[in-house]
Amino acid sequence: NIPLLSLNDGYKIPAIGYGTYPLDNPQAETAVREALSCGYRLFDTAANYGNESGVGTGLLSFDVGRTDIFVTTKLRGRDQGYDSTMRAFDASLQRLKMSYIDLYLIHWPLPMKDLYVESWKALVQLQKDGRVRSIGVSNFLPEHLTRIIDATGVTPAVNQIEMHADFAQREALEVHKKLGILTEAWSPLGRGSVLENPVVGRVAQRHNRTPAQVLLRWVVQMGAVPLPKSAHPARMKANIEIFDFELSETDMNDLATIDGNHRTGADPATCTEE
Ligand code: A2P
Repeated sequence: NIPLLSLNDGYKIPAIGYGTYPLDNPQAETAVREALSCGYRLFDTAANYGNESGVGTGLLSFDVGRTDIFVTTKLRGRDQGYDSTMRAFDASLQRLKMSYIDLYLIHWPLPMKDLYVESWKALVQLQKDGRVRSIGVSNFLPEHLTRIIDATGVTPAVNQIEMHADFAQREALEVHKKLGILTEAWSPLGRGSVLENPVVGRVAQRHNRTPAQVLLRWVVQMGAVPLPKSAHPARMKANIEIFDFELSETDMNDLATIDGNHRTGADPATCTEE
């Protein structure tokens, strides 16, 4: 009952997913199983989170077909470069205990390293080899997107960026839309920081919903896929119950007033880790 969206390569992706940062392996195993039973089908992990093995075990422990789930993982910074990307992908696949990955992302551009074009060429090859269905990037700025597209002629299916009502990312969304790239939103609740906002509270009251549901629905109506994380089953469940109501133009305008261009995570232009 979660809607599917089409990617630019023809594959389909669930309209909301479960984020696994910063769960460790045992926590991820339990949480992923819980999330599956709540109805989540899109799962987001990364080599850098150190929990791929727990995510893989959790996925295997639930009776669901491989093609009914959508698994994303990411290439970490220290593995960037053509050959090292190939090796890192194999290691991720092994930890996840899978024969293919639905979506593989370059985690951060790390412009100081200047290896993201080589890494992107490796992802293009992995896709050609049928080892990954869709390929994309994370935390890429428009200039980084242009460079990898110019170098390979291949447009990423996804750019996963920090996005929430206090960091609405309108310009990035516009660029992605023009290029045919789907936006995924990490920290769609601003790491919890936007939940207490009184504007969000008023909109939530109007709809008899929770602030988290309003913030996640806002991401959906902005055209992006939210990847909320919660370790609590009741919240996990509430967080996907956002496809049976709609925010009005007035609600969306009210929510637009909270955008303080306020990042909670690292700046992709200067980030040298991850
Ligand atoms: P918890 O795991 O204790 O539920 P983001 O996805 O923006 O990074 O935010 C994640 C944070 O928001 C986590 O600390 C999570 O805490 C909290 N959170 C997730 N869903 C909800 C919810 N429905 N209500 C309140 N807090 C939530």
